[in-house]
Amino acid sequence: MLTPRVPEDSLLPFCGLGGPCPEVIPIIIPKSVNYGSAEFSLRSLGVCKNSRNTTARSAALVACLALVVAIAIFPSAPATRADGNARPSNGVASPATPKKVIIDTDPGTDDALAILLALNSPELDVRALTVVPGNVTAQQGLENALKLASLTNRCDIPVAGGAQHPLFQKLITAELWHGANGLANVELPPSKCKADPRFGPDLIIQMIHESPHEITLVPVGPLTNIALALLKDPSIVPLVKEVVIMGGSISGGNVNAAAEANIYNDPEAAQIVFHAGWRLTMVGLDVGDKTLYDQAHLDQLSKTHGPENDFAVKVLTFLLGQEAKYGAGGGSPMYDPLAVGTAIDPSIVSTQPMHVDVESRGEFTRGETVANRRNAVERNVLHGDHYIIEGIDRVDPNVQVCTGVNAEKFLQLLNSRLAGK
Ligand code: BDR
Ligand code: CA
Repeated sequence: MLTPRVPEDSLLPFCGLGGPCPEVIPIIIPKSVNYGSAEFSLRSLGVCKNSRNTTARSAALVACLALVVAIAIFPSAPATRADGNARPSNGVASPATPKKVIIDTDPGTDDALAILLALNSPELDVRALTVVPGNVTAQQGLENALKLASLTNRCDIPVAGGAQHPLFQKLITAELWHGANGLANVELPPSKCKADPRFGPDLIIQMIHESPHEITLVPVGPLTNIALALLKDPSIVPLVKEVVIMGGSISGGNVNAAAEANIYNDPEAAQIVFHAGWRLTMVGLDVGDKTLYDQAHLDQLSKTHGPENDFAVKVLTFLLGQEAKYGAGGGSPMYDPLAVGTAIDPSIVSTQPMHVDVESRGEFTRGETVANRRNAVERNVLHGDHYIIEGIDRVDPNVQVCTGVNAEKFLQLLNSRLAGK
């Protein structure tokens, strides 16, 4: 049994780290987290009191207080505009200077493919795999990540467990989509690799400080670990090269009409990560839906062999079966691999800067990424008994939102990197 270590000094009061989780999803919203001005506000405490039962209320209150305390005691970091960081103008990092990445993952079928893609791409130097609960529990996810490191003979890469639950709600796992073990029910051999004893968010913080301005974070699960790292040490913000997430959507969800799974599984964490002030690229569901891996791609990959190649074929066969059963047809979307593909070659996607917030209170829209395509809001001023629009206020973009993808180029990249491995 693998039990991820949770250090005692790591914000333990958070429900996400093993404390009591509210019975109902509480309405606890970090309204704005602006590290630059050290001005933090939560619509929290008053709202926490609205939780529907005493247990929920006290757990929610503890969580709220923990967040307030955590934010208050950590020093503020200078804000950096999301579109202000340097990016190599030629798009693809040269294999001679591979991009250092940390993949934060909830493996997961497409997570597994994303990890295999990353580990077989000379453009990337995978420094760590940190595990977050999402598709599967934290424990199963750590076991899966270790098996993948073992399959690829990469026990040199630290694989660390992290949060045990989302920040403010109970975990929702997705074995329905990913198989009982999260890896398409494919039984990999026991891992030769051992779990790193460090706590995932702490490892992220440490690595960023060891390689300032060099680390690209690639979170492909709920954003709990990344939010915890930010809350614990906001000074990492300007030291991170870029964050490329798989999550969100600007046109509908997969959990329900509005929300994408990674954001839905921890909306408060997502809002913290989206507003940290670093360069963040959102590789959302709606672009992932255009990268359909179909039978022809599978036939192509099935012609070559190797332990990773053969494992990928089994996972992809499972995914095509799931699509036939539940999907819209046309193939299986390669969500997490596309985020890694974007880190490998940003020219695969097109992006637009937008101001994005994460909805956390909507009855039907909790977890929706609400994107302002005009980066402007009306200014309504109260005059007597009604408001009058007096002007337009600009809102700064905080996210590079992917709006297009060269799907076939990406799918060929994926197949070519897995073939024969
Ligand atoms: C995301 O949710 C998970 O099920 C996948 O691994 C992916 O990260 C897609 O919504
Ligand atoms: Ca995932």
